Amino acid sequence: MAKEGFVVTPWEVRGEIDYDKLIKQFGISPIDENLLARIKKHTKELHFMLRRKIFFAHRDLDWLLDEYEKGNEFYLYTGRGPSGHTHLGHLIPWIFTKWLQDKFGAKLYFQITDDEKFLFKRELELEDTKRFSYENILDIIALGFDPKKTFIFLDTEYCKTLYPQAVRVAKHITFSTAKAVFGFKNESNIGQIFFTSMQAVPAFLESVKRKKNVPCLIPLGVDQDPHFRVARDVMPKLGYYKPAIIHSKLLPSLLGPGTKMSASDPRSTIYTTDSEEVARKKIMNAFTGQQPTAELQRKLGGNPEICSVCQYYYFLFEEDDKKVEEIFEAERNGSLLAGEHKADLAERVVKFLKEHQKKREKARDQIEKFILRD
Ligand code: TRP
Repeated sequence: MAKEGFVVTPWEVRGEIDYDKLIKQFGISPIDENLLARIKKHTKELHFMLRRKIFFAHRDLDWLLDEYEKGNEFYLYTGRGPSGHTHLGHLIPWIFTKWLQDKFGAKLYFQITDDEKFLFKRELELEDTKRFSYENILDIIALGFDPKKTFIFLDTEYCKTLYPQAVRVAKHITFSTAKAVFGFKNESNIGQIFFTSMQAVPAFLESVKRKKNVPCLIPLGVDQDPHFRVARDVMPKLGYYKPAIIHSKLLPSLLGPGTKMSASDPRSTIYTTDSEEVARKKIMNAFTGQQPTAELQRKLGGNPEICSVCQYYYFLFEEDDKKVEEIFEAERNGSLLAGEHKADLAERVVKFLKEHQKKREKARDQIEKFILRD
């Protein structure tokens, strides 16, 4: 699909995303070298996702750092819509959030929107989204978040706390705003129209609890930005700070640029629960952007920018910038052929999955240490 043809909304991501255009469309700010230097002053090193501009844009991050430097510490908020098992793309904001928690010692609210996925996915019942919530929570815990500082909740289980705050938000959002931002139709169910007010709540929940304004930073995949565009308009009306946001790019599909990711096609991504065999097979079938024959590839070389295998290294599986550049160069100059390229990545991914799945099992009896209910 042509670059002009991309769509990024909380409910649909389609086409080849042009992130520069998206910055303009969404009215978000690019992360520049000054901002990176400011972050580095506090974190000493920069996470590879910052160095590579995988986290590429923000809202009010400079304000958040001003406050932090004045001694006004922030908390973190992110979330997960439990529509199925976790895939590797979901881990990008979560891994980064964990890094921020470690570097800033910040408290984290992790919202699981089981209500949302029930309302937006025709085929899912509440029991399904609850089951997936608890499956996804295992992945979250497996990443090593601090149990003393991390608070995970399902909307349907923490609703006594969330609901009174959500109605305060909802009162300030008109149907015409919801339609304009999210594209709702007369046929949309009314739960969908209300939902964004639930996602807004954790962005000021700490201020409610502490009865004083506490800055909030929300790391997220850029598709979630529209919720907070709405929420940020409402928050000052309720007397709270607007949350700061840091946006990540989305992990490309294994099937190549412009193809659909995730739930709609399990071949397009790897789930944290995939077996070794399944993961290997998906990678061996991945799109590489190489020439149609080995001979041509040796002669002409390939394009790492559109190669799913190269992109997997870039987004998740090679933290060393020099090594990433070597892999990209070998793809470009034709010395690394598709079969070997894919087999190398498969080794990395399988190793990661094995370790992650072990931690995931250990997480089963940790759940209660993290969960908030009321
Ligand atoms: N709606 C998000 C999803 O479908 C889940 C979510 C809730 C979230 N609160 C969030 C994501 C805050 C990022 C930040 O995945």
